[in-house]
Amino acid sequence: MYVCICQAVTSKQLAATIAQGATTMKALRSELGVATCCGKCARDVRSQLQQVCGNSGACACVARN
Ligand code: FES
Repeated sequence: MYVCICQAVTSKQLAATIAQGATTMKALRSELGVATCCGKCARDVRSQLQQVCGNSGACACVARN
């Protein structure tokens, strides 16, 4: 499923990029270009980031948001 229509980024691509260490919105913008055009995907990207990182406990991104 597409998360970011503008950049054609899927939830699988997003999950893979987070797993590779992109654990901030800034990093995801840089790596995938999400939330850099219309910005409508920002909430969903942040939600997936929090879900992945919150479940793994591997980063502090949840605490920062
Ligand atoms: S849907 Fe992601 S920037 Fe437009």
